[in-house]
Formats: sequence, C-alpha cells, structure tokens
Amino acid sequence: MQRVFSGIQPTGIPHLGNYLGAIRNWVTLQEDHNCVFCLVDLHSITMPWDPQTLREQTLGSTACLLAAGIEPTRLYNQSAVSAHARLGWIFNCVSRLGWLNRMTQFKDKAGKNRENHSAGLYVYPNLMAADILAFHATRVPVGEDQRQHIELTNDIGQKFNHDMGVEFFPQVEAFIPPAAARVMSLRDGSKKMSKSDPSEQSRIVLTDTADDIALKIRRAKTDSEPLPSEMDGLSERPEARNLVSIYAAMSDETPADILARFSGQGFGPFKNALADLLVERLAPVASETQRLLQDEAHLLSVLRAGAERANSVSEPIVQEAERLVGFLR
Ligand code: TYM
Repeated sequence: MQRVFSGIQPTGIPHLGNYLGAIRNWVTLQEDHNCVFCLVDLHSITMPWDPQTLREQTLGSTACLLAAGIEPTRLYNQSAVSAHARLGWIFNCVSRLGWLNRMTQFKDKAGKNRENHSAGLYVYPNLMAADILAFHATRVPVGEDQRQHIELTNDIGQKFNHDMGVEFFPQVEAFIPPAAARVMSLRDGSKKMSKSDPSEQSRIVLTDTADDIALKIRRAKTDSEPLPSEMDGLSERPEARNLVSIYAAMSDETPADILARFSGQGFGPFKNALADLLVERLAPVASETQRLLQDEAHLLSVLRAGAERANSVSEPIVQEAERLVGFLR
C-alpha cells in the first residue's frame, strides 16, 4: 500500500483553498492508503509569529481537520516528532543553494526585503522534503502551489541516494486535484486565496457560519457580463472563472456542466446557488469544529497519540539515514 504524507501550516483556520486543494483529497485517500497528516508547526515559525496564537491555531486547525473527516490516529503536530528536524538538517547539507534560489514561494513570501527574513524561510523546502521522506511517502496530496517543492523533494532524495551510494529514498509524486488546485481570492482573481491576506472577505474559512458564507459569496468580486456557455469565454474573467471552478469542484461536476446550467444568466442566481452549496457542505464542518473546540484535553490527546504513531514509522527510517550519513549512535 502506498504511503501518503501531507501537511498544513497551523497559521490560521484552514480556508476553502486548503479544503479543495488538499484536505478533501486527504479524506478520500485515507480510505485506501496508509496516510500521515501533519500540522507543520515547525514551518509556521519561519515567518514572524506569536506563541499564544500559534498554540490556539494549532488546536483550532486540529479541530477543523477532524471535523472535515480526517481520522484522529493519522494526525499530529510536527514539532512533537523529532525525525522532521533531524532529517531536515541533513537535507540542509544535501540541498544546493542554487536549487533554493529557484523556489518561487520564497520569492513571493520574502518579496523585495529578503535580507530581513528568517534563515528558516529560505531552507523551508528542505524541511518539507524531510517531512515527506522521513516516512518514505510516495504520494503527496497538495494544491498547485506546492508542485515545485515536491520536485525539489525528488532532487534532494536522489542526491542523497547518489551521494550515499544506495537507493534509500523513493521517488515522490504530487497528487494535485484536476479542479480547484489553485483557488483564488474572492476579492482579486489574480491572487491565491491565502490565510495571510489581510481581507477576511477574500476567503471562506472552515469555521464560517452559513451567514458568513452567504455574505462573502454575495460580495465576491465579479463583472457585469452574463455567464458564457464555454470555459474559453472566462479566460479574461479570472473572478468569474474562480467561482465557476469552486462550484464545479464542490459539486463534483465539470465547469462545462456548471456553465450549461447558468449560461446567459447574471451572477445573482449563480451566487445564490453557490452559497447554498457551500453552506450545505461546509456548515456541518464549522459546527463540528466548534463542538470539538470545547474539549481541549481531547484534542491534545489526539495529537499525542498521532505523534506516537508517526514517531514509530519515521524513527527507523531517519535512524537509517543517520547511519548512512556516518553518524554514530
Ligand atoms: P499550506 O499550509 O499553505 O496549505 C496547505 C495545503 O493547502 C493547499 N492550498 C491551496 N490549494 C488550492 N488553492 C489555494 N488557494 C491553496 N492554498 C493552499 C496547499 O497546496 C497545501 O496542499 N508547505 C506546505 C505545508 C507542508 C507540506 C509538507 C505539504 C509542509 N510540509 C509536506 C505536503 C507535504 C504549506 O505551506 O501548505
């Protein structure tokens, strides 16, 4: 059985992009794969953070993921399993500066002011490679924005194998959904939906109430043209394309099916139907999240048990990597 690994930063409540790009596929994959899902708190401190907020958001994200259908035994937080940091360090010494310099996510996050960012942000992709390879995972369900990091994971794994003269780390494959692999902001169709966008109206989060969802969809930016009959007609209309893609992904239909139903109409009826669909699917996740958040001790015990299981899988693999590198024990 293939091993699946994926992670999410507990930096804020998961949003619709996280859900459609990743979490929903995690829930499906866990039915017939050996899955490990991680709240990557080590990654969350690569940008400025507040300790109390990190604690709260890690618990909040745990509740959300459980409410969305992740099995409790598969979930833990990264800092509780030392294999990540140990293999991450080895990969810092395997990976090349030239490779990291090509990472577009670092360029996006650091912007023009590179000198002032943490060294952790720069070596972030090495830690991500360690997350995956510490479990010998071969499938990684992620959104489109992580594709380059998965390619780097393979470069690092292959260089390690080559340098140590053994086929130790497997080849890794990104599992990117055909629809909604890149959900865009509700306010600006050229920007990715993101936890760090200052506008709350730009994203739907998994704790939004039915009223929040309806309001955000009603206010979502669109244009004044009616919906076209073909997707080609949306090529210059990023906001409309985004909403049609969200609808299609959420209802498990194709964008063509959606346009066949709404073509020639304005956004009013379409937005009402989209809001109803999102409320139907997401409101139960929000209420279950609220229920789970009442019992912090339970959430902590889920994470602890998950960490124990993750440790038992990753520890022998990372110990073998350490032996291959030449570390004494
Ligand atoms: P993060 O926390 O930014 O996002 C978690 C998952 O959600 C996907 N995603 C999106 N998908 C579609 N549209 C969007 N607007 C959108 N925004 C986010 C991401 O692609 C991701 O799958 N580096 C990772 C976390 C990570 C990881 C790993 C993932 C650390 N180690 C190992 C896989 C394997 C990140 O920051 O994801």
